[in-house]
Amino acid sequence: MSTDAALILDRCDELATISSDPEHLVRVHLSPEHKAANELVATWMEQAGLSTWQDAAGNQCGRMEGSEPGLPALLLGSHIDTVPDAGRYDGMLGVLLAIAVVNRLPTNTLPFAVEVVAFSDEEGTRFGTALLGSRALAGTWDDDWWNLRDADGISLFEAFQDFGLDPARLPGAFRRPDDLIGYLEAHIEQGPYLEDADRRLAVVTSIAGARRFEFTMTGKAGHAGGTPYDRRKDALVGASELVIEIERLSKQQHVIGTVGKLEAFPGGVNVIPGRVEFSLDLRAEFDDDRDEALRLIDEAADEIARRRGLHFSKHEIYRADAVVCDLDLRAGIEAGIRTTGDDSPLAFWSRAGHDGMAVVAVTPIAMLFLRCKGGVSHHPDESVRASDVAAALDAYEAAVLALAQR
Ligand code: GLV
Ligand code: MN
Ligand code: MN
Repeated sequence: MSTDAALILDRCDELATISSDPEHLVRVHLSPEHKAANELVATWMEQAGLSTWQDAAGNQCGRMEGSEPGLPALLLGSHIDTVPDAGRYDGMLGVLLAIAVVNRLPTNTLPFAVEVVAFSDEEGTRFGTALLGSRALAGTWDDDWWNLRDADGISLFEAFQDFGLDPARLPGAFRRPDDLIGYLEAHIEQGPYLEDADRRLAVVTSIAGARRFEFTMTGKAGHAGGTPYDRRKDALVGASELVIEIERLSKQQHVIGTVGKLEAFPGGVNVIPGRVEFSLDLRAEFDDDRDEALRLIDEAADEIARRRGLHFSKHEIYRADAVVCDLDLRAGIEAGIRTTGDDSPLAFWSRAGHDGMAVVAVTPIAMLFLRCKGGVSHHPDESVRASDVAAALDAYEAAVLALAQR
């Protein structure tokens, strides 16, 4: 095994121990674990020759100057927050690959600076809205977000202060387009296409646009024994019907719809559910397809609610439109993949969301995918082969050097 790949995998293991739950990996935005992960990543950045700082949004950053100080920077990065009960490679592997690339690069000779960013919040696990770190960097922050609350009722504003960050300084995280030349991210594929094609690496063509909602179906709670069926307004049966319909419509419209959270209230075994709160994550390669599917889901929700005497409402909590990867940066990644012996790099779109969706507001983006076992992600079974990590590192380094030649 390449020693570089072994070190990267050891570091993924070490980061995976920084979790708020000893049994399951979970590390959310602005938590004590986030702080500890930033500190650990900063030490690895410094060992690779980067000068480090934590920005005003809690992103951990590092910089290596180019042939002269102050040149615009090529950003490399990914995120270090996780979903609940996460795997150890989604995000973290991309950060550690980026640090390993910088460690290999010649110092102070490139025609650009290289920076590594470990984004603070790609998943949106804590506050529902994703990409908070990268949107701060991209200057697309929405001040309404300060009022977002986590499951314990702590606002984003309070969480910033608890973390030791000053909300008033948030604009300091913004990076001016003139100071950047592009953003590259390496990431596990989180899908089965590479494995099915028996390939290690791919270049990403675009990233799916996503929208997320909180849905509420309201009926009337009542006695599970005494209430005849023709008098029930069972919110959970209505919500369940909609969940099935979301799957059917998503397949029909060639989009991807997922209900990942669902809670019935008041939540008694012998009480008809009076209210159900559930989520929708809706994605597609093209935003118009996603939005047309949403229109059909809305229609279905209204029809189900009317027929069952329920009330349906929805609240959008996240929206990121589809993003096309930059052709020049893509060519750099393809050149990088070719140096690993793959003469015709696979190219396909990402069904998963990534920080590049936000970063594209200030600089062009491109991505390198590497194979993960069974395409499994957002699950502790996430797994990568050391030889694939070694190939990804070689391709990533060669991509940066190819861009330096242009
Ligand atoms: C992030 O991993 C997402 O695609 O939800
Ligand atoms: Mn993820
Ligand atoms: Mn990710």
